[in-house]
Amino acid sequence: MVKAKKWILAAEFAGEPKDSNFKLVEEDLRALKDGEIICDAVYLSVDPYMRAHVFPVGSCIIGEQVARVTESKNADYPVGCLVQMYSGWRSRTLINAANKTATEAVHLLKVTDLGKLEPSLALGILGMPGMTAYFGFLELCQPKAGETVLVNGAAGAVGSAVGQIAKIKGCKVIGFAGSKEKCDWVKSLGFDHVFNYKEADINKSLKEAAPDGIDCYFDNVGGSFTSKALQHMKEFGRISVCGGISVYNDTKPALTPDAFMTILSQQLRVEGFIVTRWWNRFPEGKAVMKKWIDEGKIKYRETVKEGFENMPQIFMSLLKGANIGKMIVKA
Ligand SMILES: NC(=O)c1ccc[n+]([C@@H]2O[C@H](COP(=O)([O-])OP(=O)(O)OC[C@H]3O[C@@H](n4cnc5c(N)ncnc54)[C@H](OP(=O)(O)O)[C@@H]3O)[C@@H](O)[C@H]2O)c1
Repeated sequence: MVKAKKWILAAEFAGEPKDSNFKLVEEDLRALKDGEIICDAVYLSVDPYMRAHVFPVGSCIIGEQVARVTESKNADYPVGCLVQMYSGWRSRTLINAANKTATEAVHLLKVTDLGKLEPSLALGILGMPGMTAYFGFLELCQPKAGETVLVNGAAGAVGSAVGQIAKIKGCKVIGFAGSKEKCDWVKSLGFDHVFNYKEADINKSLKEAAPDGIDCYFDNVGGSFTSKALQHMKEFGRISVCGGISVYNDTKPALTPDAFMTILSQQLRVEGFIVTRWWNRFPEGKAVMKKWIDEGKIKYRETVKEGFENMPQIFMSLLKGANIGKMIVKA
């Protein structure tokens, strides 16, 4: 019998996550049957959606990880091979890699095609957050050269990629992030205007950076930022609604001005999305993103914190902005 650890949801989130929402438990993994493998977590992802998603108390906290196969009864997944999967906050996972249905549920994939790049990128720029930027921006905003693009959460995993893709497409890019260090990094990525939303007047900044208005708005933040940004949209502007991190911890619905009259008067196209909509196209998106990285057109950053035991603290710090680029936990 092999021992494993997992983090479970001990109590439903209410407001900001606290230590008491999380519990570390041990489990015994039984002996392998044909087709099964055991994988040890190498890198685990913490992401804002873990706060927004509702899942039952007592269940393993959801999430993706890169893991190494340490025992195998499946010739397609030999010992040593790297995989990525949505198996949750687990130190060690037993999975039937031969059973297609069970495997689909955790989206088990081999980590390949990264060349010399770190496997943790499969959880970031070359994984779900990178694909969120790639498809969520290009498909929904349909940016054209010369247009003005606004992205918030600009120093994060998704936002930093969106702004760089917009530059590749020949757009003028305005970013907002939460500290001077973050703004300096975002500026170094080629963004045309970067503001610290904790210090700057958002309306004034947008008037100054986009006097003729915004064509494309990629929204990671929602709430009062979006109420303000809406007033700067050009006629026929497009908005990709990716996330609302400013409201995930809210316990009461926010009282924001009604957006619909602005959407009507400016004839805006507003669309929300969940990135798995493009799951079948991930290989295409990853190939383009990898090419852009190799060509030096896309830069990325990771904030790597150590320790499976520290996952709740690292997750809580992500929600407070402790990361630049993708937040990763090294197991
Ligand atoms: N729709 C989808 O399929 C999909 C997929 C992936 C991600 N998302 C969403 O995309 C957004 C970004 O995700 P990510 O993985 O790239 O995370 P991230 O931006 O790397 O990390 C979260 C960042 O949010 C910022 N933040 C926290 N509280 C905030 C507030 N009140 N106002 C403004 N910013 C705040 C912090 O940066 P600052 O220091 O700058 O505040 C923090 O670093 C999230 O809303 C996430 O839920 C959606």
